[in-house]
Parts: sequence; C-alpha cells; structure tokens
Amino acid sequence: MTDSASAAQVLELDDIQGTVLRQRPSPYVGAYFLLRVDDAADGRRMLAHLAPRVASAARWWEPPDRAWFSVALSHSGLRALGVPQASLDSFPAEFRQGMAARAVRLGDVGESGPEHWDPPLGSTDVHVALSVFAPDEAGLQRVLDDARRALSGLPGVSVIYRLEAEQLPTRRTHLGFVDGIGEPDIEGAGVASILHAGGDHYGYLPGFGPTIKAGEFLLGYTNELGRVAAMPQPGVLGRNGTYVAFRKLHLQVAAFRRYLRDNASSPEEEELLAAKMVGRWRSGAPLVLTPEHDDPDLAADPMRANDFNYRHEDPTGLRCPLGSHIRRMNPRDALTDSIVDVKIHRALRRGTTYGPMLPEGQLEDDGAERGIVFIFMGADLVRQFEFLKTQWANDGDFVGLGTEKDPLVGDNDATGTFTIPRRPIRRRLQQLPRFTITKGGEYLFMPGLRALNWLAELED
Ligand code: HEM
Repeated sequence: MTDSASAAQVLELDDIQGTVLRQRPSPYVGAYFLLRVDDAADGRRMLAHLAPRVASAARWWEPPDRAWFSVALSHSGLRALGVPQASLDSFPAEFRQGMAARAVRLGDVGESGPEHWDPPLGSTDVHVALSVFAPDEAGLQRVLDDARRALSGLPGVSVIYRLEAEQLPTRRTHLGFVDGIGEPDIEGAGVASILHAGGDHYGYLPGFGPTIKAGEFLLGYTNELGRVAAMPQPGVLGRNGTYVAFRKLHLQVAAFRRYLRDNASSPEEEELLAAKMVGRWRSGAPLVLTPEHDDPDLAADPMRANDFNYRHEDPTGLRCPLGSHIRRMNPRDALTDSIVDVKIHRALRRGTTYGPMLPEGQLEDDGAERGIVFIFMGADLVRQFEFLKTQWANDGDFVGLGTEKDPLVGDNDATGTFTIPRRPIRRRLQQLPRFTITKGGEYLFMPGLRALNWLAELED
C-alpha cells in the first residue's frame, strides 16, 4: 500500500451529492421520477436547472428550497445528453449493459424477469432518474410545482415514470421491520448520520465496523485495494461520482405472513421465526444481543442496536442463523479466517418504501403494489451489489449452506430451505417461496456537482 493509500483522504464534500454520504431526513415525503431526453439541448438545460438544487454532502442539513434532490443517469441517458463516444466507452461494462441485460446473473428470472418489469423500467428510454424528498407534503408540492414549470419549457424532456416514496405510519418497512440500521463507516465522510427507530443521531455509532476507504464508495479516491480505481473520462465527469443499483422490489407481504403462521405454533413463535430470517427482531434489536425475546429499548438505543459481531459472540449461528439476511449481507467479522475481505463488499443503502400498508393481520393479498425502492450505492457494481446478490443472497456456499438462499431476498421458488441452528437439532424450514419480486431496475451513475455542470455545458 502506498503512503497516499494509508493516509486519510480529504473528501470534496461540497462536490458530492449529499445522498451518497448522508441519510434521508425523517419524517419525509418524496417521489422518484424517470425522464427521457429526446433533445440533448433540452436535457442539458434541465440539468443546468437542477444542479444548483442538489444538496451537496457539505450542505445536506440546509438544502436549497428545503428539499433534497438527487440526480443520476443511465448509460443511454449520458448518450442522449450528447456525451462523446470516447467518454461513453470509458464506463465499466456492467453499467454500459444496464441491469436488465444482467438479469439471469442477478436471479431476476421467472416472475422477476425483465419481460415482466413495469414499463419503462429496464428499457433504454430511462435516461435520467431524479429523487426529491421534503419534510412535508406542502414542501414537496412547492418544489414539484417549480420543477413542472421548468420542464414545461423543455419539450425535449418527458417524465416517463413516477413513483411516490411513502413512509408507512409504523415508520417501518412493509414486512414490519425497522430498516436502515447497518451502515459502513466511510473514512473522511465527516459525521456519520443514521436515522434510528424514528430518531436522528449524528456521530460515530458502535457497530459500523472498521472504517472503510472512501474509494469504495466514491470515484477518485483510494479504495480498500490500495488503488484509485479507473474512472469514467474525462476526470471532471468521474470524480466524486458513484454508481447506483436502483430496483423496484415488490414485497409479498401476505405470503410472508402466511409462511410464518404455517410454520409456527403461536404468535410468539411467528415473531421468532421472522427475526431468525432477518437476524433482527422487527423492532431492529439484533438477535446476537437478544436471542430469546425482542428488546425495544435496546433497539431504540443507537449506541447499542448495531454494536455486535459474530465470530466470538455467535460462531455457529445459534443466536443469529448463518443464513439470515443481515448475516449474509454483512458477515462482519465472521469470515475473518477466510479469503474473503468483507470490506470490499460493502455499499450504501438509501431505500424507501412505496405503496400502502397491508392492514395488520390480513393474510390474503389485496392486489396492491407495495414494496421497497432499493437504492444501493458504491464505486463498483460488480464486486459490491452484484457480489452480494449472486454470492451472498442467492448462494449459501460461503457459510456452508450449499445452495440455500437468503430467506428474505433470495430468488427462492417454493423448493428453498432455511436452516435455523438449534440444540439439540437444527430446524430446517422447507418450501420457501419468493417473498421479493423484482419489478424493474437500472444501473445509474450519480455524478458529482461539477460533473453535473460539465454535462449541462456540453456542446453539440
Ligand atoms: C425487499 C428486499 C429487502 C428487504 C425487505 C430488506 C430488509 C432489511 C432489513 C429489515 C435489514 C435490517 C436492518 C439493518 O440492519 O439495517 C436489512 C439489512 C441489510 N440489507 Fe436488506 N432488505 C432487502 C433487500 C436487500 C438486498 C437486495 C440487499 C443487497 C443486495 C440488502 C442488503 C442489506 C444490508 C447490507 C444490510 C445491513 C446488514 C448489516 O450491516 O448488518 N438488502 N435489510
């Protein structure tokens, strides 16, 4: 490792889109928009309008217009804006191909296959993705009215998709779990911030794990391999950018509830089963720290709720199963003696929920669309998002579970199993159906603010 690789790097916080390093405000209302650019000059005018409205990581807590905008582009979007071919070719292959082209590898098959995705998701019409969040509905409407007025003068740009991001009354995800607790600690990011059980907490939180080099999450910085990875060219376009795996994931809430009921003999056992699948109780309290019963006080304490490891505390998974969602997605110190370096497989999660809640206790599907807008950000889509999806979610080899998949997000097909270590004998759940169906997705590039302006100023 070079000296520059081991020295702390100074991040250009005022150039990095805030959402990369900061958590969304809570409470929030928001929406995602996908846009098609039919006229490059109009597309560039739109970016010129948007760029000053995007809060940087330095100004995240006082964003322009009290709303949080983020902008990302697909490969076809960069082309539609008139980015030169040499620059288009400098992006990595997976980004150039797009998510739909990599569906089989990602387990997006059967009902999750791109042929069933909501149009226009997965098509080359998706050029620009925009997210907008505000603390309340009035604030959101104000900025959206402004955006609508700006767009009405740009006939070469069309909104082709809109998805409202809703915070459920429970402030949890549709399956009833608190989410967004586990988060990497990024070197030089300034404050870590995390919204936990409805409260805000700024500062280092125990359990974030080892500090990770900024180059794992942002282009232009040294990464955990001791290198500054190749960037899209020119440098002004690549620097301070990151890649985004954007997915619309439908959740089969009724099926999840029925599966718990069919495999448990009491409501308490249902809760335990749900916790075993995720690795946390629905409150967010981790099984490693409280394996027998939920502990809402522990869950509500950001200094404790994520402060655990696996290697010594729970080597065989008697508390938190080796195949549970959080243990797969972030094995923490559990793989210390293996060749896998967990630090090169971390990424940032910025998802939200969409759709109405299925009423408590209802076991039949009501046909409503509900799920998670899954946002995963990092500097390398293949060794972060795709690795987690293909190796850790859709395979079990790395924890000695053969072909067993993640019980929550694996591409199970009603023949899957889920192993719960137990004394005297383990329990193995059978016929695991698929609880998560992919409704669409795209690989996007989220540029820094200077890069947004560079794009806005391109000439034909
Ligand atoms: C609809 C799909 C999903 C649901 C409902 C879901 C739910 C959850 C929940 C409840 C947690 C625990 C809260 C926390 O530790 O922050 C969690 C953690 C996590 N999930 Fe997911 N998740 C989904 C999809 C995914 C996918 C597809 C990935 C990766 C490809 C992923 C990666 C992670 C990671 C990295 C963590 C943090 C683990 C830790 O640091 O301990 N999730 N998820």
